[in-house]
Amino acid sequence: DQDLSDALRAKLKSYPDFPKPGINFLDVFSLYADLEGSQILNEVFIRKGRSVIGQIDVVVGLDARGFLMGPIIAREANVPFVPVRKSGKLPGLTVGTAYSLEYGEASVEIQKDAIPEKARVLIVDDLLATGGTLNAAATLISKLGLGITVTECFVLMELAFLKGRDKITSKVSCTLSFD
Ligand code: PRP
Repeated sequence: DQDLSDALRAKLKSYPDFPKPGINFLDVFSLYADLEGSQILNEVFIRKGRSVIGQIDVVVGLDARGFLMGPIIAREANVPFVPVRKSGKLPGLTVGTAYSLEYGEASVEIQKDAIPEKARVLIVDDLLATGGTLNAAATLISKLGLGITVTECFVLMELAFLKGRDKITSKVSCTLSFD
């Protein structure tokens, strides 16, 4: 696993001062644009999915890059995939919440009936920065009631110095940590 993380770290492109001054943007798409990078990502997600077989009932992926990884993880874990989307994008009855982002304000929604009663949920996304997005999603999912619990949040990359994981009450795991 360390070899895979090291290979990804070496291939990852970052963009200083995007989308705002002071933000160093870690571009996960730079890994998908690299054939070997894309294969390694696939392997990382397959391993993650296999590691949670029997421990989770739903994978929730966050808009937008959580949609690249969530379905692979869900398929390997033999559970359904459900999206949390930026507000206004999902059809049917939805519930939503607003939150602060590293660079601005945002709000997200989930379909009201998307997650079954008593489900154990794994939330996935590409990046944990301030933790605002993951915390909003976890809170939203817990508010659905029905005995639903967020058992784990998995991110590909974590900006550990922002201490975003302190906002998250569930277990947090990551592949690449940046100090
Ligand atoms: C990025 C990233 C995470 C979030 C992390 O998405 O993909 O979802 O920010 O930041 P936080 O921990 O400070 O909340 P963004 O909101 O830029 O949306 P996008 O995926 O639509 O580009």
